[in-house]
Amino acid sequence: MSKSEFNDLTDFYEAMIDWPKRLANEEPFYRHWFEKIGAGRIIDVACGTGRHAAMFHDWGLQVEGADLSPAMIARARANFGEDERLRWVVRGFEQPIQFDGENKKSFDAALCVGNSLALAPNVETVRRAIRQMFAAVRPGGIVVVHVLNLWLLPDGPCIWQKCKKIKSFSPEPTATALAGNSAIRENLLADKTPAVAVGSGLNEDTKNENAENDVLILKGVHRSGSRGYVEFLAASLADGKLLHQESVPFLGLESPQLEQYARDAGAKAIHFFGDYMQQPYEREKSVDLMMVAEKISSSDAS
Ligand SMILES: C[S@@+](CC[C@H](N)C(=O)[O-])C[C@H]1O[C@@H](n2cnc3c(N)ncnc32)[C@H](O)[C@@H]1O
Repeated sequence: MSKSEFNDLTDFYEAMIDWPKRLANEEPFYRHWFEKIGAGRIIDVACGTGRHAAMFHDWGLQVEGADLSPAMIARARANFGEDERLRWVVRGFEQPIQFDGENKKSFDAALCVGNSLALAPNVETVRRAIRQMFAAVRPGGIVVVHVLNLWLLPDGPCIWQKCKKIKSFSPEPTATALAGNSAIRENLLADKTPAVAVGSGLNEDTKNENAENDVLILKGVHRSGSRGYVEFLAASLADGKLLHQESVPFLGLESPQLEQYARDAGAKAIHFFGDYMQQPYEREKSVDLMMVAEKISSSDAS
């Protein structure tokens, strides 16, 4: 993935996710693990627009949110501000994490979630990223990885998962206007049009007499062999003209591979789950592939 690939997708990404619902679903998982290890300092190495980091900060934790995309970090900073307990950094997850000033201490937990690790260009980068996450956490701390379980998807055409109508205030919206228009962004963030599954209520959701400046945005996924692709489309509702199209490839990661990288980096106990409810991971059935790996502590080593 090129460095800037996700920059244009910041609005799409924010719009397509029902954040209150998603965070409510994931919160018990994080509370469980953070309480288990007594976590006070967290690093999210691909934080996107910073919503997990901001939630942890609200819990009173000290958080660093890092991301390769300057646009994502700019949005996180704009959304949530910055203080001595909430830092935003532009950095790739395979890069060493700097400990400076107040942040000399290592972290209690390092996260790479929301399928971010699978966006690495190759498995060598995944291996390096896992090593950097382990280097960042203290002995006894945890590394959390969450990716889509690519193997659940049939090999074949795109499965359109989400569809949203948004308002454009530009008479002829362009891809650039879509990516940068703050009025659009306000509508997206206000979440006025709930995401619907294509084929179930799409017509209802898109019915609008005043559709001249409306834009339909869609997100889907598909698999081709061992590669996944997240597809984003934006089209004018007035004339059906395609305004923006983007296909983001991702790796199909496997649990034994992640386990090996974690062990090589210093993991003691490694747990795999198939979702945030901590159901066991099953390659044929699970929606997600999640790993929680505990870093070996000095008492384990002796
Ligand atoms: C699908 S978003 C997920 C963001 C967030 N963690 C979540 O759970 O919603 C993927 C993020 O990974 C970031 N990313 C992709 N490659 C990266 C890399 N090599 N290092 C750090 N971040 C990266 C993208 O910029 C994007 O913000």
